[in-house]
Amino acid sequence: MTGTTHYQVQKSRRARFMEEWRQRRRTGVVKASEIRLHETSRRMRSGVYMGAEGGAPTRTLDGLVHEIDPGVISTIHRHSWDATMFIVAGSGWTEVDGVRHRWKPWDALHLPAWAWHRHGNEGMKTARFMSFSSEPVVESLGLAVLEQGGDEPVERLPTRPQPAELEGDDPYARRARRLAEGLGEKGRIHTPYDDIELRATPRGTRTAFLIDQSIGNRTSGLTQVMIQFAPGLAQTMHRHPGEAWLYVVEGHGHSYIDRELTAGREYEWGPGDLIVVDHFLWHQHFNDDPDRTARLVRVHMFASMLDTMRALVDPLELFEEDPDSLASAPDVSGFDWSPDERPS
Ligand SMILES: [Fe+2]
Ligand SMILES: [Fe+2]
Repeated sequence: MTGTTHYQVQKSRRARFMEEWRQRRRTGVVKASEIRLHETSRRMRSGVYMGAEGGAPTRTLDGLVHEIDPGVISTIHRHSWDATMFIVAGSGWTEVDGVRHRWKPWDALHLPAWAWHRHGNEGMKTARFMSFSSEPVVESLGLAVLEQGGDEPVERLPTRPQPAELEGDDPYARRARRLAEGLGEKGRIHTPYDDIELRATPRGTRTAFLIDQSIGNRTSGLTQVMIQFAPGLAQTMHRHPGEAWLYVVEGHGHSYIDRELTAGREYEWGPGDLIVVDHFLWHQHFNDDPDRTARLVRVHMFASMLDTMRALVDPLELFEEDPDSLASAPDVSGFDWSPDERPS
C-alpha cells in the first residue's frame, strides 16, 4: 500500500513541532538591556520580552513592555484574549470599557477579554508598564482576534455579545445558562499596591497576590504575585511545567535552572530583567544582595493551563518541590523587612 496514513502525518508533524520548539525556546534570563522599544500606531512604544514578535514564541502567555509619554492618550482597542499589566514607572490611567482606573508604580491591572481599553499619561514623565497576556494560548485554539477602535468614543463601539436567557431543562438550555453564568459579573480590574498585604511563606519569601481569582480577578488563568526575597536568601528548589516567569522589579540575584538538581546552569539577573522558566526544569531563585530585599513579580497561567495539564496527565506529578530544600528553608516570619519604597 502506498500513500501517507494519518499515523505518519501525525507522527512527523509532532516530531517537527517538538524539534522546532526545542530550538527556539528560551531558558534563563531575558535582560532588560536586550529589549528594543518600537513606536507603534497606538502612540505608545512597545518591546517584546517573550512572544512571537520578539523571536521567542510561547504557548501560553507573552510578556511585553510599553511606554507612554506625558500628555499622550493611546488609541482604544480590544482583543479576544485577556491581559494583565504591572506598572513599572510613572503615573497614568487605563480605561476599561469606559471606566477610568488611575495607577502608580507596582499597581496591577486586569484587562478582560473583549473589553475596550486605552491608556493615558497625565504625569510629568514617561510611564512604563509590563503586559502579560493569554494571546498565545487563545491563538493556539484559533480564536485570537485583535480589533482596533482608533479614537472612537467607547459608547460608539460594539458591545460584547449578549447571551440570551433560555428556559427549560434540556441540555441546550442548560448549557446556555451555564455559559451565561457570571458573564455579566465584573471581576476586579485594578489592584493598587497600597491595598496588598505581604505574608511570609514556608519557602523563605514573603508574597502577595496582585492578580488572582482569590482577590476577585476573573482571568483566563493569568496571575501575578509579588515575591520578596530577604537579603542573601533563596526560595526553595522546585519544578513544574514552563512559562512561569519572574519580572525583576528591584534587586540583584541569580537563578539555578537546569534538568539536574545539582551542578546545573545559573543565570544572573537585575532590575528590569525577566527570569524565564520555560519547561519542566529544576529551579531556585537567590537574592545575592546581603543588605537589600529583592522584589520580583511572578506571572503564569497555571490556574487554567497547568490545572488542565495536571488533570489530563494525573497520576503524573507536575509540581515537585525538593524535600531537602523545603526542610532547610529559612523561617522569615519574624524577619524585619525593609519597607517598600516605590518609584515616585
Ligand atoms: Fe490590549
Ligand atoms: Fe517556579
